Parts: sequence; structure tokens; C-alpha cells
Amino acid sequence: MTEKNFFENVYKNVGKDRLADIPWATLSANIYLLEYLNTQKKVEGKRALVIGCGLGDDALALEAQGYTVDAMDISPTAIALAKERHPTSKTNFYVADIFSMPKASYEAYDFVYEGLTVQSLPREEREKLISIITELVAKNGTLLVYAHTQNDKDNYGGPPWPLYAREFKLFEQNGLKKISEVKEAETKAIAPSKYCMVYKK
Ligand SMILES: C[S@@+](CC[C@H](N)C(=O)[O-])C[C@H]1O[C@@H](n2cnc3c(N)ncnc32)[C@H](O)[C@@H]1O
Repeated sequence: MTEKNFFENVYKNVGKDRLADIPWATLSANIYLLEYLNTQKKVEGKRALVIGCGLGDDALALEAQGYTVDAMDISPTAIALAKERHPTSKTNFYVADIFSMPKASYEAYDFVYEGLTVQSLPREEREKLISIITELVAKNGTLLVYAHTQNDKDNYGGPPWPLYAREFKLFEQNGLKKISEVKEAETKAIAPSKYCMVYKK
């Protein structure tokens, strides 16, 4: 199980000039998110949410698309770093726990981005987590999920715990429709591949 302060400690201990040493940090927006946004028209008056936003680059990509962005993370240091790295951003970076989202945020977001956070949280919490994420997506809204995956018979252990195909299916069982799926070969030992899934409500 991930210890409670695991993420906060990673962000706190790495040092501001060594952010690239954070195992998941690329210091740029996710390439699949950028590719997807490039296929879409700019928007106005729409809201986006970034779950587990880390250093904030994905939020900036959504902001550039025209969204009004909320970007949350459980780590206060990550949020402080995101604000510091993006001083002119209009994104609302804030500290929160995805398991305690207020009811007012349900069905509130036209676009939800989740990259590498579901897989970071213990498997026994996954069903609940996926149900919460699904609830946050507005009617006709879009969810983009980026996560390691493994075959149903594999057991790569964790953390992170790569998602099984049956766990990705939970998004659909909760009422979303999968509109695209890209599988990326992975070079690291976490799991053999990653998925970028796009769902619509
Ligand atoms: C593996 S990192 C991915 C960060 C970012 N999405 C990226 O791709 O660079 C997982 C992130 O989720 C955050 N996180 C972990 N548990 C969380 C929770 N319960 N609620 C909100 N954020 C959480 C961590 O602090 C961390 O920033």
C-alpha cells in the first residue's frame, strides 16, 4: 500500500532544481492529451478538471484549449510547485483528495484528465475511485485516462499497480462510452504497456 505521505514526500524531497528526477514527471503535458486536443476545436465557457495534477503541465494544455481549469492534487508541495512553475496561469490549482470531491463537482466538468493517478492508488480503492471519476464528467463530456496496463493473467505488483483490462472496463460499466484506445509500448519495468483511453458520457 502507498504510505499516506508518499507523494508529498517525493515532491518535497526532490529539490526545486531537480524536478525531472520525479519518476513520473515529464515537465510537459501528456502527449496523448495534446494529440487529442489538437483534433478538437478551441472551446469557450467549458470547464475541465485535472485529477492528481502534479506539476501542472496538463492543466496548462487544457487552459490553452480555452477551458476554465480546476487542477487538484493531494500534495500541497505539488500544488505549490505547479503555481510557481505557471505564475501567469489562470488555472485554479488546489489541494484536495479525489475521494472527497464535493457533490457540486459531480457532472460539472466538460473534460476530465486523469494521468497515472488511478494506478498509484491501492487496488482495493479502484472501483470506488473509477466511479467517482466517472461521476465528475458532465453529460456529453469527455474523459481521457492514461495509465499502465497489464494482461489479466499478469501480476506486476506495485506501486504503481497497472490497470487490468477489466478495470478499464469499469469506466464503461459506470456509463461512459469508449471512443478511442491507443496502446503504447513501455520501456520501463512497471508493465509492458500503457493505454490512452478516451471516453464520452
Ligand atoms: C503518479 S503521479 C502523476 C502526476 C501527474 N498526473 C503526471 O502525470 O505527472 C500521481 C499524482 O496523484 C496525486 N494523488 C495521489 N493520491 C491522490 C488523491 N487521493 N487525490 C488527489 N491526488 C492524489 C499525487 O500527489 C501525484 O501528484
